[in-house]
Amino acid sequence: MTEALDWWRTATVYQIYVRSFADSNGDGVGDLEGIRSRLDYLKDLGVDAVWLTPFYPSPMVDNGYDVADPRDVDPLFGDLATFDRLLADAHARGIKVTVDVVPNHTSSQHPWFQAALASPPGSPERARYWFRDGKGPDGDEPPNNWQSCFKGPAWTRVADGQWYLHLFTPEQPDLNWSNPEVVADFHRTLRFWLDRGVDGFRIDVAHGMAKPADLPDMDPRAMFNVVEHANYYDPRLNNEGVLELHEGIRRVLDEYPGTAAIGEVWTFDDEQMSQYIAPGRLHLGFNFRLALTEFDADKLRAAIDRSLAAPLSVGAPPTWTLSNHDVWRQVSRYGDGEIGLARARAMALVELALPGVVYLYNGEELGLPNGPLTEEQSTDPGGTSDMQGSRDVARIPLPWSGDMPPFGFTTGQRTWLPMPVEWADRTVEKQEADRSSTLWLYRDALRLRKTHPAMSGDTVSWEDAPPGCFVMRREGGLRCVLNSSDAPVDLPPGEVLLASSQVQDGKLQPNAAAWLV
Ligand code: NOJ
Repeated sequence: MTEALDWWRTATVYQIYVRSFADSNGDGVGDLEGIRSRLDYLKDLGVDAVWLTPFYPSPMVDNGYDVADPRDVDPLFGDLATFDRLLADAHARGIKVTVDVVPNHTSSQHPWFQAALASPPGSPERARYWFRDGKGPDGDEPPNNWQSCFKGPAWTRVADGQWYLHLFTPEQPDLNWSNPEVVADFHRTLRFWLDRGVDGFRIDVAHGMAKPADLPDMDPRAMFNVVEHANYYDPRLNNEGVLELHEGIRRVLDEYPGTAAIGEVWTFDDEQMSQYIAPGRLHLGFNFRLALTEFDADKLRAAIDRSLAAPLSVGAPPTWTLSNHDVWRQVSRYGDGEIGLARARAMALVELALPGVVYLYNGEELGLPNGPLTEEQSTDPGGTSDMQGSRDVARIPLPWSGDMPPFGFTTGQRTWLPMPVEWADRTVEKQEADRSSTLWLYRDALRLRKTHPAMSGDTVSWEDAPPGCFVMRREGGLRCVLNSSDAPVDLPPGEVLLASSQVQDGKLQPNAAAWLV
C-alpha cells in the first residue's frame, strides 16, 4: 500500500504539451481525445504518469498559461466529460495523471480581473491583484522597476491611471496571494481536480506566488540569468512567504493520499531549493540543472552532485529533466544533426540511470530536434534572450505516421505550427519498426529502470574514468558510463545492458553512454 502511495518518489513522468501531442478533430491543435487515443503508446513506452499542460478555458495568449477559468476545459481541447474518460482510461492502463495549475496569475479575461477593471481603486475587486498608483508627478511611471520575465516592464496602466502587476504578459495579471480569497479559490481548484481523481499537479511559477507587500525595486542585474540569479536581489521571485503558501497547498493534497505536487521552482541555490521541498511543503521541485549543462562529463557530474544535495538533505526525491516546452530540445542544444542526436541519446541513458523522478518531454523519445520556425509562424509571447528566441521551436506537433506532414498528428491538413518534411524518418511508425531507433532506446531504458535490481539506491558514486568520461554507479550496482571525449574509450568489465550507440570490442564511442552490470 505504502509503495503505491509513494509512486511519485521514483516515477518517470511524461510531459504532454496538449496542443502538440495528438489531434482528434482535425483542427490542427492537439486535444484530450487525441491523448486518449494514444494511451497505449504511452503504456508501451513505459511511463508511470503524465503531466498535462494547461487545457483550461483561455484566450491562449500564452498557450493556455493564461487561464480564464481553472475549473473547466477549453472547447479547443474537449470538455470535462472527455477529461473524465481520459483519466479513467489512463488509470485503467496504470498511468497516473497530473495536471498543470497556474496559481501565480490569471488571464486578463478571468471574471475576477474583468471585475477589477470595472471597479475603483481601493475596491475589494482590485485587492485580488496587485493594483498600485504610479510614481512621478502624474503617476505615469510604473510603481517600481520590475521587469516582466518575458519582455518590458512588469506593469501596465489602466484607464483610471492605476497600474497592475504582471510578471509575464499584460494578459496574465499576477494574483495577490496575501488575499485569503485568492488562497481559498486556488484550494477549491485543487479539490475540483482531486475530486475528479487526478493524481497530482505541476505548479506553474511556484517560486513567484508571494510578493513583499511594499514591492521594493529589484536589482536590474537579476534580469535574466537564471543560474546566477541568486546573486542579485530580486523580490519578484523566491520570497520567503511562498513557503507558507506551499504548506497550505500540501495540506489540501494530504487529504487525498497518493497525490503529489511538483513546483516549477527556478532556483539554483541548494538551501533555497531544500526549503521548498522540506516536509510539509512541495513533494517535488523541478531541477533544471541538466537542461542547462553542456555535454561535458565533468560539468554533468558536478551538476548531478549538486542536484542530489538539496533533496537528500530533506528526504525528498531528486528530480531530473533534460527539456520541456520552455527550452530548446536537447538534440538542438547538443549541436543538432547526428552529433546532437547521439548526445541526446547518451543523455537519456544518463538521466534514466539516476535515482528519483525523471520528467520526459513529449517528442524527446523520438529524438526530435527544434523545428524551423519563422518569426511570423511563432505564436510565443515569451521568447526572452534567456530562452534563446521563440519557445515554439520545441513545441512542434509530434509526427506519428506516414511520409508527409502532418504525419498522422491530425486528420486535417494544417497544424498549429508547421511540421518539417524532414521528420518523415522520425515518426513513431518508422521508429517502432526499427529496433535501433531512439524510441526503442527509451522503451528499453524505461523497462530496465523499472525492473532491474541494479537500479536501486538513493545516491550515486563515481569511479575512475578516462578524461572526458564518467562512470556513475548506483548503489544497486548499475554503472552508467558516459563518453563526452572525442575518442573511443574502453568500457569497464561487465555485461552491457544497454548502450546509446553500438559497442564494439568493448569500446564506447564518443558522444555515447552505456549501462553495465
Ligand atoms: C512557466 C511555463 O512553463 C511557461 O510556459 C509560461 O509561459 C510561464 N510559466 C507563465 O505561466
